[in-house]
Amino acid sequence: MRMLEMENQPATILVVEDNTVMVRLIEEILRLDRHFVRVANTTAEALDISLKCLPDLVICDLNLPDGDGLSLIKSIKNQHPSAFIPTMIVSARVEQDDIIRGMAVAQDYLNKPVDPNELRVRVGSMLRLKRMQTRIEDLNRDLERTVLAKTKELHEKNRELRSLAQSISQIQESEQRRVAGEIHDAFGTSLLTLKLLVQSHLQELDPGNATHERRTEIIDLIDTITAEARNLAHSLTPIALHRLGLVATIRDLVDGCGRANPGVQFTFTTDGSLDALPAQWNLHIYRITQECIGNALKHGNPGKIEILLKENEGHLTLTISDDGKGLEPASQDNGMGLLFMKERAIAMNGLLEIRRIANAGTEVCFESEIHKD
Ligand SMILES: Nc1ncnc2c1ncn2[C@@H]1O[C@H](COP(=O)(O)OP(=O)(O)OP(=O)(O)O)[C@@H](O)[C@H]1O
Ligand SMILES: [Mg+2]
Repeated sequence: MRMLEMENQPATILVVEDNTVMVRLIEEILRLDRHFVRVANTTAEALDISLKCLPDLVICDLNLPDGDGLSLIKSIKNQHPSAFIPTMIVSARVEQDDIIRGMAVAQDYLNKPVDPNELRVRVGSMLRLKRMQTRIEDLNRDLERTVLAKTKELHEKNRELRSLAQSISQIQESEQRRVAGEIHDAFGTSLLTLKLLVQSHLQELDPGNATHERRTEIIDLIDTITAEARNLAHSLTPIALHRLGLVATIRDLVDGCGRANPGVQFTFTTDGSLDALPAQWNLHIYRITQECIGNALKHGNPGKIEILLKENEGHLTLTISDDGKGLEPASQDNGMGLLFMKERAIAMNGLLEIRRIANAGTEVCFESEIHKD
């Protein structure tokens, strides 16, 4: 409701006064502005009415037959702790002390005899205060509702993002599995046939023949290509993950990288319970580790690469650091590895940070609460 419309709204006003002449006078003044007037002659009556009708304003005398006005105002406020009810004291006491004590509890203090115009103006101003307060409360409630709805929306979007990231990783993984299968089956079989062919030719030749030497070299080369194709197929689908588990498979990867890069010192440290991670996590963690090691070797020229994988009270941390040349922030968009790593982190609902280490090198840190979903 707009403020102007609200201004003209009649209000419910509780008048607490034991003097009947005074009551009649206040009632008449308030009715000029079409307000509903409820009257109480005692504090007990006033408490009862205020509980039942929750007035917009309380006008109260200080001296009442069964108590004093200040205690009554405090009791009314205690009855409705969440509601703002403006209160006005109307009293014949004109001492400064009385006014100060009154204003510490009520919003306004008016002296008797009451001037009708002054009372109307003051009541109007009290009611405006009350309406503004009500408006603020309404706006607050609206705001709370909006914040709640937006938070829910955000949770929903997060969930969608996570499931999208999961699908992307799954598609990527199944495509890699397909390529690995092709490499394994097509290359593996063709190379084996080629090797058998060359071997059968070899048997027909005299061992001292120079061509025999060349053909032996060809067989060695075929063996090397077969081994490389096999390694490639295995790196595309870490089948060992199911068989050996995450830690042993990463150890295999690290050992293999160590053998292929004798100038780099690899360290792999684990801590906590790592055998019961959600199924899909093993693959994500393995792939992030694999990409980070690959990146360090490819871009960093490091002397050492350290991998730390630890679980502590359901919290997983994976840190891969190298002491290479360090990641340039501007170069982060060069490839797809970091992007896929971030998607895997989202799929696990975790946080992935990639940073340059102060002196030299790069550190990738993934953290997440372990949740089974
Ligand atoms: N450990 C690192 N040390 C130095 N630079 C790094 C490191 N890791 C990543 N970078 C830089 O960040 C860039 C982006 O890495 P990202 O893995 O996304 O792509 P890429 O390795 O270049 O290609 P892709 O992973 O797609 O084969 C890299 O090109 C490189 O410049
Ligand atoms: Mg990369």
